[in-house]
Amino acid sequence: MIEILNLYKAFGTQMVLNNLNLAVRRGETKAVIGRSGVGKSVLLKNIVGLIKPDSGSIKINGVEVTNLNEKAYDKLRMEIGMVFQGGALFDSMNVGENVAFVLDEFMNLDKKTVRDRVADALALVGLKDVQHMMPSQLSGGMKKRVSLARVLCMEPQIILYDEPTSEVDPITAAAINHLIIELRDKLKVTSIVVTHDMNSAYQVADSIAMFYRGQVIADGTPQDIRNSTHPVVQQFIHGQADGPITEDESLIFGHIK
Ligand SMILES: Nc1ncnc2c1ncn2[C@@H]1O[C@H](COP(=O)(O)OP(=O)(O)OP(=O)(O)O)[C@@H](O)[C@H]1O
Ligand SMILES: [Mg+2]
Repeated sequence: MIEILNLYKAFGTQMVLNNLNLAVRRGETKAVIGRSGVGKSVLLKNIVGLIKPDSGSIKINGVEVTNLNEKAYDKLRMEIGMVFQGGALFDSMNVGENVAFVLDEFMNLDKKTVRDRVADALALVGLKDVQHMMPSQLSGGMKKRVSLARVLCMEPQIILYDEPTSEVDPITAAAINHLIIELRDKLKVTSIVVTHDMNSAYQVADSIAMFYRGQVIADGTPQDIRNSTHPVVQQFIHGQADGPITEDESLIFGHIK
């Protein structure tokens, strides 16, 4: 469903993705883990076309998307929902308008259908009767859930989640994990879940890919990842301070001379 080949992306003199390869099968939930700054969000933004790669290929449903024009990409975006790390809500619109945005702008639906879908999507993420609130009145976790509701009401085939369980309390995190699993099982949604939360990764993922220095260094079932003998994987999943990953990693890696 999603096939990424030799994806390369640098910002100025900083290399982020170094010929990265990743494949996600139809109906699969793939968790992506790796340290802060490794390029997880950059990868998701490349998939939805918010960032263009320097080279490499991204195929969605067999279609090369890196060279699509904006109009074609807009159409594709109807099928790909992205839950942004910070919510990415429009500050000047209330919650209801934010969630309805894509339905209002791009889909020809009557007002009642939109209202119902918005209410249903908000209920699914555990937020009721908040349509009138403004983003500035929401907590970080609420913003994230509104962002998730906005994606759900599009009923997309693919959902990209950027840190869906960070900034939310453990009970909400469990509910979000449950929702991710349910969307896969009931609606056959294909997903990438970027996360630091290993509990969430083990729970929701069919497979887990770990990013390190611009590439995927391990990719397998949650069990494979737990059993991996790769020292970088071990250090990351157990959160150890000592190991091959050093604090100043970002200073020594990725600097193009
Ligand atoms: N638009 C941009 N312009 C310049 N540099 C960028 C841009 N977007 C991301 N970067 C850089 O790319 C690197 C990877 O960023 P990215 O947001 O993908 O990290 P991440 O793996 O998602 O980290 P985190 O876990 O903290 O969210 C960072 O060093 C960041 O500064
Ligand atoms: Mg990120």
